[in-house]
Amino acid sequence: MKTFINESMYEVYFILKNEIKKLNPNESIYFEIINPDIDANENEKKPIFKGYKALTNLAEILYCKMLTPKIITETNVQIRFKKLNTNVSFHINSDNNSEKYGKDSLFAAIKKNSEPSFVIPYIEALKRVQLEHKIRVLNLGINSGDEFEIITEVFNFINHIEFVGIDYCQSAIAEAKERFKNQENFKFYAHDINELESLELGKFDLIISIGTLQSSNLDFKLTFMNLIQNYLQKEGALILGFPNCRWIDQEMIYGAKMPNYSFSEMTLLYKDVYFCKKYLQQKKFQVTLTGKEYVFLTATALASKPKQ
Ligand SMILES: C[S@@+](CC[C@H](N)C(=O)[O-])C[C@H]1O[C@@H](n2cnc3c(N)ncnc32)[C@H](O)[C@@H]1O
Repeated sequence: MKTFINESMYEVYFILKNEIKKLNPNESIYFEIINPDIDANENEKKPIFKGYKALTNLAEILYCKMLTPKIITETNVQIRFKKLNTNVSFHINSDNNSEKYGKDSLFAAIKKNSEPSFVIPYIEALKRVQLEHKIRVLNLGINSGDEFEIITEVFNFINHIEFVGIDYCQSAIAEAKERFKNQENFKFYAHDINELESLELGKFDLIISIGTLQSSNLDFKLTFMNLIQNYLQKEGALILGFPNCRWIDQEMIYGAKMPNYSFSEMTLLYKDVYFCKKYLQQKKFQVTLTGKEYVFLTATALASKPKQ
């Protein structure tokens, strides 16, 4: 087991990278470091890592999951990184059928609602648009209903709100219906967003869509503009979530994924986010961008006095 004492960060990375290459997925690498909790000013042993955040970041860069560290001596801790299986990812599935995100898919295994960097900015966005004052809420790409579940956990006075969830994945919508079967104000439709008009839904006070509008079967700009022009009330609000991450072996790895790139590349993310922001500002919306692994664009009509 290697002990890192005087190495630079790049040396640590380089050594670990080469060792991890030799491992099979799910195998772990162990190494020792100076306990990051030791105050560098009060001890001659200077930790390379100033805290566990640096170590979880390094694990992520190396496509690993950091497991619980072990205290070895008064000054040293043992760190364990488990190698992720990069083949276990719904992004790799190039099928474009509607069950790609279904109940038996790799996508269904991920737990987005357990990730603070998704949940907290999402809730903040819902508060910013003053969800509790809305009457009709539409979610496009609701899948099995996770984004509505957060709403029911956090907001109390929502029985007056009609929630409508759309997704063309039959098995995901069946699950959503089962999950919300006792809540009459939640409705779900297994339906293609490209054919939204046939549902005759009318207009909404809030439209939410997370990780969906950039799907390859949708024309991003046209779908987005159609929503604003035909489905959003004049004084309505919008929350769009743009993934700036990939899901690998059920771990959320920072950085957007572009087709044909082996590494994370963010041009499309910035381009689409900026297009929406500019368009909405022209239509007199106030727009904020928040989040990290998920970038949240939150728009409120200037006339509706948004909460800061
Ligand atoms: C990446 S998933 C995101 C799901 C969920 N919002 C989330 O962030 O976990 C994209 C979702 O959009 C749905 N979807 C993609 N294209 C669609 C379309 N044309 N019509 C309806 N749903 C679509 C998929 O079935 C899937 O549930």
